[in-house]
Amino acid sequence: MDELDELLERNRHWAESVKLGDPEFFRQLSQQQNPRYLWIGCSDSRVPANQILGLRPGEIFVHRNVANVVVHADLNCLSVLQFAIDVLKVEHIMLVGHYGCGGVRAVLDGARLGLVDNWLRHVGDVLQKHRDVFGGIDTASMQHARLCELNVIEQVVNICQTTIVQDAWERGQKLAVHGLVYSLFDGRLRDLGITTTQHGALADSYARALARLGAARGAD
Ligand code: CO
Repeated sequence: MDELDELLERNRHWAESVKLGDPEFFRQLSQQQNPRYLWIGCSDSRVPANQILGLRPGEIFVHRNVANVVVHADLNCLSVLQFAIDVLKVEHIMLVGHYGCGGVRAVLDGARLGLVDNWLRHVGDVLQKHRDVFGGIDTASMQHARLCELNVIEQVVNICQTTIVQDAWERGQKLAVHGLVYSLFDGRLRDLGITTTQHGALADSYARALARLGAARGAD
Protein backbone atom coordinates (compact mmCIF):
# COMPACT_ATOMS: atom_id res chain seq x y z
CA MET A 1 0.00 0.00 0.00
CA ASP A 2 1.50 3.34 -0.98
CA GLU A 3 1.38 6.36 1.28
CA LEU A 4 -1.64 7.99 -0.33
CA ASP A 5 -3.67 4.79 -0.07
CA GLU A 6 -2.75 4.64 3.59
CA LEU A 7 -3.98 8.20 4.12
CA LEU A 8 -7.22 7.50 2.27
CA GLU A 9 -7.74 4.46 4.44
CA ARG A 10 -7.19 6.58 7.55
CA ASN A 11 -9.71 9.09 6.23
CA ARG A 12 -12.29 6.33 5.66
CA HIS A 13 -11.86 5.14 9.26
CA TRP A 14 -12.15 8.67 10.60
CA ALA A 15 -15.31 9.49 8.62
CA GLU A 16 -16.91 6.22 9.74
CA SER A 17 -16.08 6.78 13.39
CA VAL A 18 -17.48 10.34 13.31
CA LYS A 19 -20.65 9.09 11.64
CA LEU A 20 -20.97 6.34 14.20
CA GLY A 21 -20.93 8.91 17.01
CA ASP A 22 -23.30 11.30 15.21
CA PRO A 23 -25.06 9.98 12.09
CA GLU A 24 -26.22 13.52 11.17
CA PHE A 25 -22.80 15.19 11.61
CA PHE A 26 -21.70 15.52 7.99
CA ARG A 27 -25.18 16.24 6.65
CA GLN A 28 -25.67 19.11 9.12
CA LEU A 29 -22.17 20.50 8.63
CA SER A 30 -22.49 20.45 4.84
CA GLN A 31 -25.41 22.90 5.09
CA GLN A 32 -23.37 25.70 6.67
CA GLN A 33 -20.40 26.58 8.85
CA ASN A 34 -20.81 28.74 11.90
CA PRO A 35 -17.43 29.08 13.64
CA ARG A 36 -17.03 31.56 16.48
CA TYR A 37 -13.25 31.68 16.23
CA LEU A 38 -10.56 32.58 13.72
CA TRP A 39 -7.12 31.06 14.33
CA ILE A 40 -4.09 32.60 12.66
CA GLY A 41 -1.09 30.42 13.41
CA CYS A 42 2.14 28.93 12.15
CA SER A 43 2.18 26.28 9.40
CA ASP A 44 4.29 24.06 11.69
CA SER A 45 2.87 20.51 11.58
CA ARG A 46 3.05 20.30 15.37
CA VAL A 47 0.58 23.14 15.91
CA PRO A 48 -2.81 22.02 14.53
CA ALA A 49 -5.59 24.40 15.60
CA ASN A 50 -8.50 21.97 15.96
CA GLN A 51 -6.67 19.30 17.95
CA ILE A 52 -5.03 21.78 20.32
CA LEU A 53 -8.38 23.33 21.22
CA GLY A 54 -10.30 20.06 21.15
CA LEU A 55 -12.67 21.48 18.51
CA ARG A 56 -14.53 19.58 15.82
CA PRO A 57 -14.77 20.46 12.12
CA GLY A 58 -16.96 23.53 11.72
CA GLU A 59 -15.93 25.16 14.98
CA ILE A 60 -12.87 27.21 13.99
CA PHE A 61 -11.82 29.10 10.85
CA VAL A 62 -8.09 28.76 10.22
CA HIS A 63 -5.28 30.59 8.44
CA ARG A 64 -1.69 29.42 8.80
CA ASN A 65 1.60 30.59 7.36
CA VAL A 66 5.28 30.37 8.22
CA ALA A 67 5.86 32.07 11.59
CA ASN A 68 2.23 33.32 11.93
CA VAL A 69 2.82 36.68 10.32
CA VAL A 70 0.08 39.20 9.42
CA VAL A 71 1.20 41.56 6.67
CA HIS A 72 -0.99 44.41 5.46
CA ALA A 73 -0.20 43.64 1.82
CA ASP A 74 -0.93 39.90 2.09
CA LEU A 75 -4.19 39.48 0.16
CA ASN A 76 -4.49 35.87 1.29
CA CYS A 77 -4.46 36.61 5.02
CA LEU A 78 -6.55 39.78 4.62
CA SER A 79 -9.19 37.85 2.67
CA VAL A 80 -9.41 35.24 5.44
CA LEU A 81 -9.72 38.04 7.99
CA GLN A 82 -12.40 39.89 6.02
CA PHE A 83 -14.46 36.77 5.32
CA ALA A 84 -14.22 35.63 8.94
CA ILE A 85 -15.32 39.00 10.32
CA ASP A 86 -17.81 40.28 7.73
CA VAL A 87 -19.43 37.04 6.60
CA LEU A 88 -18.91 34.43 9.33
CA LYS A 89 -19.03 37.06 12.08
CA VAL A 90 -16.47 35.34 14.31
CA GLU A 91 -16.25 36.88 17.77
CA HIS A 92 -12.66 35.96 18.58
CA ILE A 93 -9.46 36.14 16.56
CA MET A 94 -6.56 34.21 18.02
CA LEU A 95 -3.07 34.98 16.78
CA VAL A 96 -1.12 31.95 17.93
CA GLY A 97 2.65 31.70 17.87
CA HIS A 98 4.62 28.82 19.29
CA TYR A 99 7.82 28.26 21.21
CA GLY A 100 10.41 26.38 19.17
CA CYS A 101 9.29 28.07 15.92
CA GLY A 102 11.79 27.26 13.16
CA GLY A 103 11.00 30.46 11.25
CA VAL A 104 11.72 32.59 14.30
CA ARG A 105 14.91 30.64 14.99
CA ALA A 106 16.10 31.20 11.41
CA VAL A 107 15.77 34.95 11.95
CA LEU A 108 17.79 34.85 15.16
CA ASP A 109 20.45 32.66 13.55
CA GLY A 110 20.58 34.74 10.37
CA ALA A 111 20.12 31.47 8.45
CA ARG A 112 19.65 31.39 4.67
CA LEU A 113 16.77 29.08 3.75
CA GLY A 114 15.76 30.51 0.36
CA LEU A 115 12.69 32.47 -0.74
CA VAL A 116 11.16 32.14 2.72
CA ASP A 117 13.89 34.46 4.05
CA ASN A 118 12.02 37.34 2.40
CA TRP A 119 8.81 36.40 4.25
CA LEU A 120 10.73 36.05 7.51
CA ARG A 121 12.03 39.61 7.14
CA HIS A 122 8.78 40.59 8.86
CA VAL A 123 9.96 38.68 11.95
CA GLY A 124 13.36 40.32 11.44
CA ASP A 125 11.59 43.68 11.71
CA VAL A 126 10.15 42.60 15.08
CA LEU A 127 13.63 41.67 16.26
CA GLN A 128 14.98 45.01 15.08
CA LYS A 129 12.19 46.94 16.80
CA HIS A 130 12.86 45.25 20.15
CA ARG A 131 16.63 44.93 19.76
CA ASP A 132 17.27 46.51 23.19
CA VAL A 133 15.37 43.69 24.96
CA PHE A 134 17.65 40.96 23.67
CA GLY A 135 20.88 42.27 25.11
CA GLY A 136 19.58 41.48 28.60
CA ILE A 137 18.73 37.84 27.81
CA ASP A 138 21.57 35.40 28.41
CA THR A 139 20.70 32.20 26.63
CA ALA A 140 19.87 31.57 22.96
CA SER A 141 16.83 29.53 23.98
CA MET A 142 15.44 32.38 26.07
CA GLN A 143 16.05 34.83 23.22
CA HIS A 144 14.22 32.45 20.92
CA ALA A 145 11.25 32.23 23.28
CA ARG A 146 11.14 35.99 23.69
CA LEU A 147 11.13 36.63 19.94
CA CYS A 148 8.29 34.11 19.54
CA GLU A 149 6.30 36.11 22.12
CA LEU A 150 7.16 39.53 20.71
CA ASN A 151 6.25 38.33 17.23
CA VAL A 152 2.78 37.37 18.49
CA ILE A 153 2.31 40.77 20.12
CA GLU A 154 3.37 42.66 16.98
CA GLN A 155 1.13 40.54 14.74
CA VAL A 156 -1.84 41.22 17.02
CA VAL A 157 -1.12 44.92 16.51
CA ASN A 158 -1.09 44.35 12.76
CA ILE A 159 -4.48 42.60 12.90
CA CYS A 160 -6.02 45.38 14.99
CA GLN A 161 -4.72 48.02 12.59
CA THR A 162 -6.31 46.51 9.47
CA THR A 163 -9.22 48.47 8.02
CA ILE A 164 -11.25 45.25 8.38
CA VAL A 165 -10.98 45.11 12.17
CA GLN A 166 -11.13 48.90 12.56
CA ASP A 167 -14.37 49.03 10.53
CA ALA A 168 -15.89 46.15 12.52
CA TRP A 169 -15.24 47.96 15.80
CA GLU A 170 -16.46 51.23 14.29
CA ARG A 171 -19.86 49.72 13.54
CA GLY A 172 -20.06 48.15 17.00
CA GLN A 173 -19.46 44.52 16.00
CA LYS A 174 -18.42 42.31 18.90
CA LEU A 175 -14.84 41.23 18.19
CA ALA A 176 -11.89 40.39 20.44
CA VAL A 177 -8.34 39.94 19.17
CA HIS A 178 -6.10 37.72 21.32
CA GLY A 179 -2.38 36.88 21.31
CA LEU A 180 -1.34 33.41 22.49
CA VAL A 181 1.75 31.27 22.40
CA TYR A 182 1.72 27.48 22.26
CA SER A 183 4.29 25.28 23.92
CA LEU A 184 5.46 22.23 21.97
CA PHE A 185 6.85 20.92 25.25
CA ASP A 186 3.62 20.55 27.21
CA GLY A 187 0.84 21.21 24.69
CA ARG A 188 -0.41 24.25 26.58
CA LEU A 189 -1.48 27.65 25.26
CA ARG A 190 -0.41 30.76 27.15
CA ASP A 191 -2.31 34.05 26.93
CA LEU A 192 0.08 36.96 26.38
CA GLY A 193 -2.45 39.44 27.76
CA ILE A 194 -2.84 41.66 24.71
CA THR A 195 -6.55 40.99 24.19
CA THR A 196 -8.08 44.01 22.49
CA THR A 197 -11.82 44.47 22.06
CA GLN A 198 -12.31 48.00 20.85
CA HIS A 199 -11.05 50.86 18.81
CA GLY A 200 -8.59 52.98 20.75
CA ALA A 201 -7.71 50.31 23.34
CA LEU A 202 -4.79 48.88 21.40
CA ALA A 203 -2.03 51.15 22.69
CA ASP A 204 -2.88 50.26 26.30
CA SER A 205 -3.11 46.51 25.75
CA TYR A 206 0.15 46.59 23.74
CA ALA A 207 1.98 48.43 26.54
CA ARG A 208 0.53 46.05 29.15
CA ALA A 209 1.59 42.95 27.23
CA LEU A 210 5.13 44.27 26.77
CA ALA A 211 5.31 45.16 30.47
CA ARG A 212 4.21 41.62 31.37
CA LEU A 213 7.03 40.19 29.28
CA GLY A 214 9.45 42.52 31.07
CA ALA A 215 8.17 41.25 34.43
CA ALA A 216 8.53 37.66 33.28
CA ARG A 217 12.09 38.34 32.21
CA GLY A 218 12.92 39.76 35.64
CA ALA A 219 11.58 36.61 37.27
CA ASP A 220 13.62 34.22 35.13
CO1 CO B 1 6.57 28.04 13.59
